[in-house]
Amino acid sequence: VSPPGPAPSGARLATGLVLGSFCTLLGSVAPGNNSKDALNVLLIIVDDLRLSLGCYGDKLIRSPNIDQLASHSLLFQNAFAQQAVCAPSRVSFLTGRRPDTTRLYDFNSYWRVQAGNFSTIPQYFKENGYVTMSVGKVFHPGISSNHSDDSPYSWSVLPYHPSSEKYENTKTCKGPDGELHANLICPVDMADIPEGTLPDKQSTKKAIQLLEKMKTSSSPFFLAVGYHKPHIPFRYPKEFQKLYPLENITLAPDPQVPPGLPPVAYNPWMDIRQREDVEALNLSVPYGSIPVDFQRKIRQSYFASVSYMDTQVGHLLSALDDLQLANSTIVAFTSDHEPGWALGEHGEWAKYSNFDVTTHVPLMFYVPGRTAPLPEAGEKLFPYIDPFDSISELMEPGRQVQDLVELVSLFPTLAGLAGLHVPPRCPSPSFHVELCREGHSLLNHFQFHDLEEDLTLRGNPRESIAYSQYPRPADYPQWNSDKPSLKDIKFMGYSIRTIDYRYTVWVSFNPHEFLANFSDVHAGELYFVDSDPLQDYNMYNETQGGDLPQLLTP
Ligand SMILES: *[C@@H]1O[C@H](CO)[C@@H](O)[C@H](O)[C@H]1NC(C)=O
Ligand SMILES: *[C@@H]1O[C@H](CO)[C@@H](O)[C@H](O)[C@H]1NC(C)=O
Ligand SMILES: *[C@@H]1O[C@H](CO)[C@@H](O)[C@H](O)[C@H]1NC(C)=O
Ligand SMILES: *[C@@H]1O[C@H](CO)[C@@H](O)[C@H](O)[C@H]1NC(C)=O
Ligand SMILES: *[C@@H]1O[C@H](CO)[C@@H](O)[C@H](O)[C@H]1NC(C)=O
Ligand SMILES: *[C@@H]1O[C@H](CO)[C@@H](O)[C@H](O)[C@H]1NC(C)=O
Ligand SMILES: *[C@@H]1O[C@H](CO)[C@@H](O)[C@H](O)[C@H]1NC(C)=O
Ligand SMILES: *[C@@H]1O[C@H](CO)[C@@H](O)[C@H](O)[C@H]1NC(C)=O
Repeated sequence: VSPPGPAPSGARLATGLVLGSFCTLLGSVAPGNNSKDALNVLLIIVDDLRLSLGCYGDKLIRSPNIDQLASHSLLFQNAFAQQAVCAPSRVSFLTGRRPDTTRLYDFNSYWRVQAGNFSTIPQYFKENGYVTMSVGKVFHPGISSNHSDDSPYSWSVLPYHPSSEKYENTKTCKGPDGELHANLICPVDMADIPEGTLPDKQSTKKAIQLLEKMKTSSSPFFLAVGYHKPHIPFRYPKEFQKLYPLENITLAPDPQVPPGLPPVAYNPWMDIRQREDVEALNLSVPYGSIPVDFQRKIRQSYFASVSYMDTQVGHLLSALDDLQLANSTIVAFTSDHEPGWALGEHGEWAKYSNFDVTTHVPLMFYVPGRTAPLPEAGEKLFPYIDPFDSISELMEPGRQVQDLVELVSLFPTLAGLAGLHVPPRCPSPSFHVELCREGHSLLNHFQFHDLEEDLTLRGNPRESIAYSQYPRPADYPQWNSDKPSLKDIKFMGYSIRTIDYRYTVWVSFNPHEFLANFSDVHAGELYFVDSDPLQDYNMYNETQGGDLPQLLTP
């Protein structure tokens, strides 16, 4: 049973207000289609963000603006992505289908052609009278969104991409030799870089312009903003390094590859190795570890990138306030699909695995009048907070949910919160059905009748399960183990996370028929949350013959 989070300040006073608007929202007919009363949606998707945020209990991280959003939101403590890599994860949660239904495990196909003509979240809002807009990295670029971010189906206007994005992987990082390199670690001087700006700054500016435009629109809007950082390379304004002095940076508590880890489960983080500064370390593939000094620098730059991204979120939300849209806009915040990111845990870096460090993502929803009292005229819910002078420790968390939830549930949840009809559950298989949901509507978690929790309305975390999966081309880590192409996939690691454990089986997989063979288990993993929260002690062999394996059989 989830313990209620501390009450947001003023919540008791506001209970009536919250309840009142809640009834109209949940009980009434859909207000879409140009109604003035419809709630707008601002969906913020951050690339490769793990739970390194103050609001998720990380004491080192300076993320005051996201923490402030969390203080007015319902925050999901246990949300999981369905596949820990960009394109498959984004296509999964934007269509509300699992990777086995989108048939996208790599970067190389468009679901409307490969799997089925599935509706997306923005498409559904567009069809219900919303103006839908995309800024930055929302869909993964390339074939997986038909080189068009799924236009014209998903968006009312042409998606925006920041012009400075093209420099991300070029030689713009000044090394100790004074030359420019394509490094992993890339703090920059804003005065020195091409165009004098960074992609996320441009995206914030564009998103604010769109909000200004929508202020006078008669239609509600759905604006998705996709931030690039903290995705590699860590290219950010260098002053953010000062927030994280190297001597204060700790290493991962479990930097060794665990002895019980099946080789098929290990991701050799090839994209990290290919950066010039990492290449120069001459690491052995696949298990050689990064020198600890450099590990500290990676962690420092990841954290600095998070704080930089937090300032962009801060500017965006503060503009929402200034435009007096905070009383009529739902704000959903998550890490794209590219869920988390390992920072040396298990001797691993990047994503590409089924561990909690890569699948566990932040997820929170601010719903005006529901997760927080409606702001009064002139009141600011989201004043910009400078991470350099913040005392974010004082921020009170908002309400929190412990139940396990999945990113694939974002579609029905956003639809329901906005008052649109929640798409029906998908039949199995559902390739022929354009509009249905594989996830759950999480609406029941938003029903606060009082400060005392109404337990009958809440899920039971012991009953909820989150599914993830990851493909591999071989039993042993090799050059393409992180990102195998569909035709090279030989194994699929199917994983379930419950409140008590994570259980994974690596079974053979036929990429031509899209068939997994659960009678052919090559390796298994079992980690208990209470005794082994970091997932270093694989108990699979010890429990063979028990009940658990049946859970994963479809
Ligand atoms: C796919 O769905 C879109 C949006 O509803 C529609 O315009 C298009 O005609 C559909 N394509 C096919 C092949 O059914
Ligand atoms: C909005 O309009 C579309 C097409 O006119 C219709 O299919 C849809 O059901 C409407 N939605 C609502 C919420 O009224
Ligand atoms: C993908 O884009 C191409 C080029 O714009 C277009 O011709 C094609 O119809 C699109 N595919 C689908 C399924 O809409
Ligand atoms: C670094 O650690 C020291 C000692 O714990 C602490 O006093 C200092 O505030 C820390 N610096 C930052 C920027 O967190
Ligand atoms: C589990 O058993 C398999 C097959 O006997 C063996 O290859 C593997 O090393 C064992 N794993 C652990 C963690 O003991
Ligand atoms: C890289 O390491 C290998 C052995 O690990 C060694 O043989 C080789 O000389 C090293 N190369 C450089 C450039 O340091
Ligand atoms: C939001 O606040 C503005 C300014 O106070 C007001 O004009 C507007 O009617 C409010 N909208 C809603 C939905 O309460
Ligand atoms: C599944 O694996 C089992 C065990 O290796 C094998 O006997 C069976 O033929 C496989 N089934 C298919 C459809 O490949």
